[in-house]
Amino acid sequence: MKLRLTKLVLFPAALIPLARLGWKALHDGLGANPIEVITHSTGDWTLILILTTLAVTPLRRLTRQYWLIGVRRMLGLFAFFYATLHFLTYIWLDKFFDFHEMLKDIAKRPFITVGFSAFVLLIPLALTSTKGSIRRLGKNWQRLHRLIYLTGILGVIHYWWLVKADIRKPREYAIVLAILLLYRIGTWAYESRKRAPAPSISSPSQATEA
Ligand code: HEM
Repeated sequence: MKLRLTKLVLFPAALIPLARLGWKALHDGLGANPIEVITHSTGDWTLILILTTLAVTPLRRLTRQYWLIGVRRMLGLFAFFYATLHFLTYIWLDKFFDFHEMLKDIAKRPFITVGFSAFVLLIPLALTSTKGSIRRLGKNWQRLHRLIYLTGILGVIHYWWLVKADIRKPREYAIVLAILLLYRIGTWAYESRKRAPAPSISSPSQATEA
């Protein structure tokens, strides 16, 4: 019940940034450089949604609200949705489907190279987000989906490299990402220590008896 209600609220909420862009576009509200406004909004929301997806596991453990895992897939798919819109803005409105120009850009401008890599990494995650894939891939599904951390790192680097002077916003994203990563590393370390067999306590005499 809680999960259904949360999904019912989150789904339209995640569409608000797109609706705002649509509203602005229809009412001449995108300013002098609409492509820039759309690129920035979709880029921001991609990163926000990637970080929110990463926050689900710590949040559900810390609050013991284990049902929250049920919203992770939806958030991840919305991150992919905004990443696709962001990429489409670039390739369609910015480059007019000039793939040669796009490839040149990917090769020449490091922030585009990194952003493109982050986007490419999201594709297998979106494709394997179905229940069938989770069942089929078993343990490998978890391994594959750890790529979301790399996507987050590349997304932050992409933003950091594209800003010219004011690094405040990418730095905020970097801090949030660092906290989420440290939390995960901490829990991995703790769990693997718990799983490790306890050292056998044998007296020197027992050792020589063997
Ligand atoms: C997961 C993938 C990606 C994430 C998380 C991401 C995120 C972002 C963010 C946060 C911004 C800045 C928004 C702002 O200024 O408020 C941005 C800008 C931008 N991104 Fe991405 N991006 C991704 C993929 C891509 C891809 C694939 C391309 C193109 C191949 C791309 C091209 C751009 C461009 C051209 C800008 C604007 C640069 C400027 O203003 O000079 N991004 N992106």
